[in-house]
Amino acid sequence: MAEATQAPDEASGYALLGAAEGLRTLVDRFYDLMELEPAYAGIRALHPGSLEGSRDKLFWFLSGWLGGPDLYQQRFGHPRLRARHLPYAIGIAERDQWLACMAQAMAECGVDAALAERLAAAFFNTADWMRNRGG
Ligand code: HEM
Repeated sequence: MAEATQAPDEASGYALLGAAEGLRTLVDRFYDLMELEPAYAGIRALHPGSLEGSRDKLFWFLSGWLGGPDLYQQRFGHPRLRARHLPYAIGIAERDQWLACMAQAMAECGVDAALAERLAAAFFNTADWMRNRGG
């Protein structure tokens, strides 16, 4: 029943972004912007000197999170994402920088506006849940 009534636009975010290639392009743009844009300097400073490992981990995680292959889980088991972010002080400013950086990356990568809106709402929920300090 449920399947029969599903709208065709219920395709996974992973497929709609262009599978591994499209997702990797988006993640790379996200970290390029974090490196380049003064507006994201606050969250850049929380990351390691080299972003290479961060690029891989976010790509592996988002692959599964968006409905594609569960590459992160295959390597590391359950993501425990909130626990893994506890070493970094994340408040509203950090959350909003992360979301703005991702929104800019999606726009620059030409992600369809309706898809970008849908993903932004999902990113908001996850990023907001990661907050571990006030302000
Ligand atoms: C809310 C603002 C956020 C900040 C400031 C932040 C910051 C960080 C930092 C500093 C790291 C460590 C980087 C490294 O180990 O290379 C990290 C790791 C990670 N972040 Fe975030 N993050 C945020 C939100 C998110 C969101 C919304 C997602 C997913 C949708 C995400 C997914 C990940 C993943 C998968 C890792 C790797 C975890 C690991 O295996 O250690 N982060 N993040």
